[in-house]
Amino acid sequence: MNVIVCENYDEMSAKAFEVMKEVVAKGNVVLGLATGSSPVGLYQCMIKDHEENGTSYKSIRTYNLDEYVGIDRDNAQSYYTFMKENLFDHIDIDPENTHVPYGNCKEDCEAYEAQLDKVSIDLQLLGIGRNGHIGFNEPGTSFDELTHIVDLTPSTIEANARFFDNDMNKVPKQAISMGIGTIMKSKKILLVASGKDKAEAVKAMVEGPVTTDMPASALQNHPDVTVVVDKEAAGLLT
Ligand code: F6R
Repeated sequence: MNVIVCENYDEMSAKAFEVMKEVVAKGNVVLGLATGSSPVGLYQCMIKDHEENGTSYKSIRTYNLDEYVGIDRDNAQSYYTFMKENLFDHIDIDPENTHVPYGNCKEDCEAYEAQLDKVSIDLQLLGIGRNGHIGFNEPGTSFDELTHIVDLTPSTIEANARFFDNDMNKVPKQAISMGIGTIMKSKKILLVASGKDKAEAVKAMVEGPVTTDMPASALQNHPDVTVVVDKEAAGLLT
């Protein structure tokens, strides 16, 4: 694992953008993308670079990590909407080349995994949860798991209620997510994390034992991982 420690969130985003830009510059590549607050600064760098330098995404295809089950694509809280608002609507990517998983059953998962196998992801972008989750792969998930339907834990439902009128009943109870086995098939992985509430997970991911109790520790077994963190998230690294 190549760990790059930055001063703050903006520097982390700029550094991650350098890694992303190198891959995008090759053209005709496949990006695996994530939602959440961690990659937003990187997406802003991509948009700014597109606007100011004309970097084009016309030949780029994207596949997202995950999506809630049971809400419409155009729901304000869907990951599909998140991607449109935070990236796709602001660059020249062909909407037909963007893919966010959608579905609620085994067949939908298998179809997404089959698409991924056909294209093969050049760069997979990840955030990390405080408990070390990547995608919706919570502690205990097998490292061999492929795209699957996940039952959200009560704590995740509670944490996400703030996006759904503070009403836990409105929060989706399941998600469709690439598995750790899916993520590990990517040629290159870029993980971004900021803030001190990520410090324990970052330490366990980088320095801890490889265990399903810490899903991100699986990345120690991948040959090409770059972790870009700010000082606070790196705070417990030795
Ligand atoms: C997002 C995803 C999640 C997030 C993680 C960190 O598509 O799969 O694993 O990357 O929950 O979220 P933030 O960045 O909001 O702290």
